[in-house]
Parts: sequence; C-alpha cells; structure tokens
Amino acid sequence: MADDQQPKEHKSVPNGIKAPHHLNLPYPDKPELITSNLQKLIELVPNPRHKFVFERLIAHMHDFINETSITTEEWMSTIQFLTNVGQTCTPIRQEFILLSDVLGVSALVDSLNNPPVKGATESSVLGPFFTDDAPDVEQGGSIASEGKGKHMYVEGLVLSTDGTPVPDAVIETWETDELGFYDTQYTDRQAADCRGRLRSDKDGRYGYRAVVPVCYPIPGDGPVGDLLIKLGRHNMRPNHLHLMVEAPGFRKLVTALYPAGDEFLASDAVFGVKKGLVVNLEEINDDAEARRRGFPNGGSFTLLKFDIILSPEAESEAARKAFAEERSRKLKESA
Ligand code: BEZ
Ligand code: FE
Repeated sequence: MADDQQPKEHKSVPNGIKAPHHLNLPYPDKPELITSNLQKLIELVPNPRHKFVFERLIAHMHDFINETSITTEEWMSTIQFLTNVGQTCTPIRQEFILLSDVLGVSALVDSLNNPPVKGATESSVLGPFFTDDAPDVEQGGSIASEGKGKHMYVEGLVLSTDGTPVPDAVIETWETDELGFYDTQYTDRQAADCRGRLRSDKDGRYGYRAVVPVCYPIPGDGPVGDLLIKLGRHNMRPNHLHLMVEAPGFRKLVTALYPAGDEFLASDAVFGVKKGLVVNLEEINDDAEARRRGFPNGGSFTLLKFDIILSPEAESEAARKAFAEERSRKLKESA
C-alpha cells in the first residue's frame, strides 16, 4: 500500500480514555442501563461546572425521550431539522439564535443573568440585528436617513439607581425602517442606517432623531419559520427601539422600548416585552418645535421620553447571586 493510502492514525481522546474499563459498566441492554452507564461516565468529568451541567442535560434529555417515546423517524427528522438550521446560518444570518429566541431560551437566559435591580431599567433580548458599524451621532442628531419613516424624537436622562446623572454613557440604538426591515436585510446595503452611537452629556442627558418603530416579522423563510407554522404561531415582534447602554462601573444594559398600543405586545414571537419597557408616545403638532428639534420640514413629530436607569455593577452582581440562590433553594425544596 502506498504511504498516502495508509489509514491515518486513530485519534484517541487523552482524557479518561482508560477509565471506562475501570468503571466496570454493565452491558447497556436495557433502556435504564444506557442512562445509568452514561451518568457513571459523567463522574469522570474533571470540571465541576461541566459535570453538573452535563449530568442535568443527560438526565433531562433521557427523561424527555422516555416520556415522549420519540420514534426513530421523529428523531431523524429532528436531526434533519437541526442540520437545516445550521445550514441556514451565514456570516450575516444566525438561524440558531433565532431558534433559541422563538423557544424562549434567549429570554430565559437573559432574565436569569439580569434579574431586576430595584429602580433600574430592565433588559430585553438583543436579537440578531445589532451591528458594530453604527455611526457616531451628535446630541439631537438623526440615526435615520430621510424617508425611512415617521419622525420621532427620543430623549431622556441616563441615571444611576440612586438618581445621579451618568455622563458620557455610550448609547447604541437601532431599529427597522417603516417597512419593518433592518438595514442589514437589504442586499444593496451601502452603509449603516436606522442605527447610531451617541453619548449622554455632562448632565446625563441624551436626545436623538429616529423613526416611529413598527412591528415586523422575524425571518420566516428558513427552518425556524417552518417550525413556527407547525406550532401554529406567528413570527411577529411588536414595534420597538433597541438600546444598548454602557458606562464604566455599571452593568451593561441591553434592552428595547416597546411603544404601547401594538397588537403584538402580548404575543411577541421572542418573549422580549416586559411591562416596565412599554412606553407611551406623544404626538407633538408644533411646526416650530419640530424645526427646533432638527426635523427639516417642520410639521409634527412623535416624542418618546425615557430615562435610562443603569445599575451599578456591584448591585447587579448582588441581585444576580441572590436570585440564583433563591431559585436553587426553591428547586431543592420542590425536588
Ligand atoms: C430583534 O428585535 O431585532 C429580534 C430579536 C429576536 C429575533 C429576531 C429579531
Ligand atoms: Fe428588533
């Protein structure tokens, strides 16, 4: 046999490869033995966090298979579905994030990691449409080019939970145009639009021009869309404006504001809406005021007033720890 036809050397996993022999596992010829053998193998996992997570993952997965008596055909179609999800991903499309979003996993992970801190603005899902190429926008400047939607002015203060202003906080903000599309969804995108990066001033004030948010469908032309059809669900998000706010010493805030009145507020496809994030918009019919705010044609505009309350890092961390301890105590009690 020529050298290049020789089989390649087998790759052994160096970690614990001999240990299974020492465990003396029984032949797994009954369903329960498959699960118990696997759990004994998990005893070998060196990292305690990995050990805990995988032990729980196997327990829940095996329970799920047992409880639902999944058929071979159903399991193969699940594998095919996940394969399609992976194959739909591109450098600008993340179908796995979308899957995590519609199954409520993104919102759940977010709510466990960012439990409410008294007085602070709550978090919401990031979504897949944030980009890091938003232009810097001056106070009062516009994040949207003309014609992208109905004029809206967004203003407020960035404050700490104790009420002190937070100057120089970096605010990233993004939204769709009035047709419900992010700039990245246009194949001829030349530059960022309907997104911007600004800073609060020395008194914590911020203000910028934007467009009135509209509700829009999350991408429905891939396997996640097919899944929603099977589940009898819609793929709509209520109107919203995304905000990501950072300042030294404070917990980074990823959130969105949801104007009241939208028909999808109570059935958001990705579970992002929280009561404290629903805001009232005001209609300002004052030509001079519209011009003063920088809207070139005057007329009327919509005003969104919102104070962004940041939580000091130590407060957030304490809330997260207390929340985790409380949850694990409750879980133990109910076990
Ligand atoms: C968004 O709001 O941009 C979004 C969030 C989750 C999935 C799809 C879109
Ligand atoms: Fe969005």
